[in-house]
Amino acid sequence: MVPTLFGARAVLSFTLVLATVHVGAISTTLTIYWAPGQTPFLEPDATSTGIGVPVPTALDQTLQAYNKSTLIPPPPPGAAAMPTAFSIAIASTLPVGASMQQKGSFFGFSVEMSVVNQVLGKNSSLLQVPFLNLMANLQQRVGRVDVRVGGNTQETATLVPSTSDGKILEKDKTGATNPTQTPPLIFTPDLIQMMRDISGLVNVHWYLGVPFNDSSNWRLEIVEQGQAILGDYLIGIQAGNEPDLYAQHQHRPQNYSQDDYFNEFGSLIRALDADPKVKAENLLLGPSVSVNWSPESVLNAGTGFIPTYNASLYGISVEHYPFDNCGVAFPNSGIPVVNPQTLLPIYLSHASTASLVAPYINSAGMAQAARKPYVMFETNTASCGGFVGFSDAFGAALWGLDYAMQMASVNFTSALFHIGGQSVSYNPFTPPPTNESVFHQWTVGPIYYSALVTAEALGPTNTSQILDLAANNNNTYTPAYGIWEHGSLARVLLINLANDPTGASDYEADITIAGGPLPMQVDVKYLLAANVTQKSNFTWAGQTFGGSFQSDGRPDGAEVVNTTTCGVPSDGSTQTPVCRIRVPAPGAALVFMAGTASAQETSGALSATFSTSTYTKNLGAVATVPRVVMETSNGHGGSSRQMCAEVPSRR
Ligand SMILES: *[C@@H]1O[C@H](CO)[C@@H](O)[C@H](O)[C@H]1NC(C)=O
Ligand SMILES: *[C@@H]1O[C@H](CO)[C@@H](O)[C@H](O)[C@H]1NC(C)=O
Ligand SMILES: *[C@@H]1O[C@H](CO)[C@@H](O)[C@H](O)[C@H]1NC(C)=O
Ligand SMILES: *[C@@H]1O[C@H](CO)[C@@H](O)[C@H](O)[C@H]1NC(C)=O
Repeated sequence: MVPTLFGARAVLSFTLVLATVHVGAISTTLTIYWAPGQTPFLEPDATSTGIGVPVPTALDQTLQAYNKSTLIPPPPPGAAAMPTAFSIAIASTLPVGASMQQKGSFFGFSVEMSVVNQVLGKNSSLLQVPFLNLMANLQQRVGRVDVRVGGNTQETATLVPSTSDGKILEKDKTGATNPTQTPPLIFTPDLIQMMRDISGLVNVHWYLGVPFNDSSNWRLEIVEQGQAILGDYLIGIQAGNEPDLYAQHQHRPQNYSQDDYFNEFGSLIRALDADPKVKAENLLLGPSVSVNWSPESVLNAGTGFIPTYNASLYGISVEHYPFDNCGVAFPNSGIPVVNPQTLLPIYLSHASTASLVAPYINSAGMAQAARKPYVMFETNTASCGGFVGFSDAFGAALWGLDYAMQMASVNFTSALFHIGGQSVSYNPFTPPPTNESVFHQWTVGPIYYSALVTAEALGPTNTSQILDLAANNNNTYTPAYGIWEHGSLARVLLINLANDPTGASDYEADITIAGGPLPMQVDVKYLLAANVTQKSNFTWAGQTFGGSFQSDGRPDGAEVVNTTTCGVPSDGSTQTPVCRIRVPAPGAALVFMAGTASAQETSGALSATFSTSTYTKNLGAVATVPRVVMETSNGHGGSSRQMCAEVPSRR
């Protein structure tokens, strides 16, 4: 059999999409499933929740991922709230308080299991080329990408040898007997084979999850097949997704406790140890708590989570979304509707983002002391689909960048941003609706730009240590991070969260180096858009993925790297030599303090970029190309545009 790789055509079935409802700080939680196209959506007149400009088209209304509604940018903070000229003295060698050494692949993705056959491919012989390209862009920068396949839909998923219709993933309607009427998923080993085949083309490593819904009859097939098929590409297996919400979801009794989860985790380990097809060492991730239980309350349960299960634990996982949009997603639920307009200033505040991460610092330290990874296993702007107008706008790119860097700075070891399918607005990237995939391409969202910039900020050496510089007297609009590589200052990331089209809120940061020479000049790359509510055509170093339905996963346009000369400024504002970096409002600047941007791009050596050859597309027909070409490039890709390709068999 000669597998063909193609991306244009895929299944159109009522794929289940799940929302976990996190209500404010408290936690009324529902689990609700729906089908794309049947998703509750913002009515055009629902101006209390989303300013309807312009009025969405029919498709936009039914599929949130393409909704064109925008919000109004917040007013400029003003000079008193945000000084626009300041200096930052940065140590040339590693300062106290910097993070542990971080891998370049810190920023990863989480794909809800029920949409994996839209995002990754239809099956192992039909892979999504845009997905491969999006992963290749990151691989080129840092060598590898980590992706989790799972979510709440993993909990009731069962591996079966085959499905009646030949698809790799189906909902088993006959099995919908639980109180939430959640139809279990059934999937075939070819789903895992598809993941393995992707790893043969781009260096993606994977997390999976073992179903945790029935702890008296563990279904270990996904572990067995995951290890057998993925081999070293399997990072670990999540055991229990948000167990602190099980009682509210009616998946466990109302008094289900941390000790109960602790004991079930032990029962799972005994089952894995007894399974000759499984190697259970350093395999599992837990407790993946969200809002109801603190990480410590589980880590301290029983005889101690880490000491008791140390041999079987790969790492410690948590999950968190800062807000939810459940009031809109479920209009009859009684959950209050949140106006995202009022949340914009909170998202666009470094202090808020830092406070989001603060509750995890202590347990991250517990993991580090035990030499275990500490993973933000699932996150994004807001649960229940995110907020149209923010989750899909430029402000979210800056938020995601600040959030990821903040997590890295306090010793998270990885952060996975969730992809929920076409009915949510926060996706880093979204395939077109399957009935339109012949003529539409993918939509690349702001969070993917966060991933790109984070990857370049951390770089490919796996030695990056990050410090929040508390720049500008720790001003909430001007977060800045120092990045040290092999113990020496390598890069500085400057973010401007203000929105001000007049330019009056652009800032100038005067960088000096304590204990080392100032470079003669530095390369600077910019993340830019006209305002924080812009919904497409963001640029990173001049390159873009366009707007809705416009990307094949490769950046468009020529890369632009600015060069700034360092020295005594001619305006007489200071007599000290500085590297004066201007950061537009809104925007971000990555400053390469050691070496050039292009030297870093090629220094990874692992810069194989998935690029495709020309092809002819016939509307309505299965489009294929002669062959996929793996070629080395610097991320500029080829000039051809295609969704479909053919690859050699991996089997
Ligand atoms: C594709 O499906 C969506 C949702 O059902 C529908 O709104 C849209 O019109 C369809 N597109 C085409 C080209 O049939
Ligand atoms: C993948 O799907 C295509 C189209 O339905 C089918 O022809 C092919 O046999 C499938 N491949 C596998 C490995 O199931
Ligand atoms: C992160 O880990 C490093 C290295 O162990 C340590 O020096 C630093 O204090 C930690 N940061 C936090 C916020 O705990
Ligand atoms: C960085 O770590 C990854 C594993 O996460 C590894 O594949 C890669 O080779 C490492 N890079 C370097 C330069 O050591």
